[in-house]
Amino acid sequence: MKDQLLELKMKALKELESVSERSDLEKLRQQYLGRKGLLALLLKKLTALPKEERPVIGKLANQVKEELHKQFQFVSDSLTAKAVESESAFDVTLPGRRIPLGHLHPITKTTEEICTIFSTLGFRVVEGPEVELDYYNFEALNMPKDHPARDIQDTFYVSDTVVLRTHTSPMQIRIMESQSPPVSIIAPGKVYRPDSDVSHTPMFHQVEGLLVDKGITFGDLKGTLTTFIHQIFAHDTKLRFRTGFFPFTEPSAEVDIQCVICKGAGCRTCSYTGWIEILGSGMVDPEVFKAVGYDPENVSGFAFGMGVERIAMLKSGLDDIRLFFENDIRFLQQF
Ligand code: DAH
Repeated sequence: MKDQLLELKMKALKELESVSERSDLEKLRQQYLGRKGLLALLLKKLTALPKEERPVIGKLANQVKEELHKQFQFVSDSLTAKAVESESAFDVTLPGRRIPLGHLHPITKTTEEICTIFSTLGFRVVEGPEVELDYYNFEALNMPKDHPARDIQDTFYVSDTVVLRTHTSPMQIRIMESQSPPVSIIAPGKVYRPDSDVSHTPMFHQVEGLLVDKGITFGDLKGTLTTFIHQIFAHDTKLRFRTGFFPFTEPSAEVDIQCVICKGAGCRTCSYTGWIEILGSGMVDPEVFKAVGYDPENVSGFAFGMGVERIAMLKSGLDDIRLFFENDIRFLQQF
């Protein structure tokens, strides 16, 4: 009888291996472990055994029963797991995963806005290198090696003759070298200076403008920049031209707008002056024309340069420039 029990166990285990449907599993369970199953039948014969063998065989029978129960349960569990897995893989009623929608960086948007305004005024958009020759960044812009104006533009030097451009003005030279007048370009791009605080980052963006032709006057400069400021800010934005100095323009003017935060009353943003400087400009210096082979007796022009971050900050009311470059998605999503 011991052999019969072990044989029954082996057969049951073997058949269990090939079960893949729950209905087959239930049939098999009835066949072996049911009230009228094979095990029950076998156990009925227990009474026919000699008295001393009964406990031994009885114990074995219980072990077999327990083990088979365990195995049936195991197969049952794995059938359930498989069913769950395949159901979820094909559940067409589950909602899809949302793909987050991206958008342009606020600096890119502001740059594009500036370029669009000047494009409609007839300026062509050009781009140039960020790693620039000292010659284009300084020399040709009327800033020779010992010129004191170099001090106001702290510089990342790559070598004695190569720098990371400190402004977009070198594009004036590159364009005038490559074509004869008339010229009307704007040049957006990244510039670099070793500065870092709430209003400075070592990399920032500028847009440079240049217009050269016969008979260009300071009036053209004022008209162009006034139109630009009224379009990029509000149509009634107050602005003023203030005398300034740049080595590459003469005369030079800095342009202020009335503080957009306090409307001129005075606040922290405008250092309680009511005005905010937003660009530098002026009539192209004859020395610059000479450097590119233009005749200053024959042509004249104006140039201007502005910081994109400053304009983006004023338009959005931000007071820390570093936010633009931290790539915090919560910040960027607000634009
Ligand atoms: N390059 C100057 C700067 O980075 C800005 C500037 C001023 C550009 C006057 C010009 C200009 O073209 O005419 O501060």
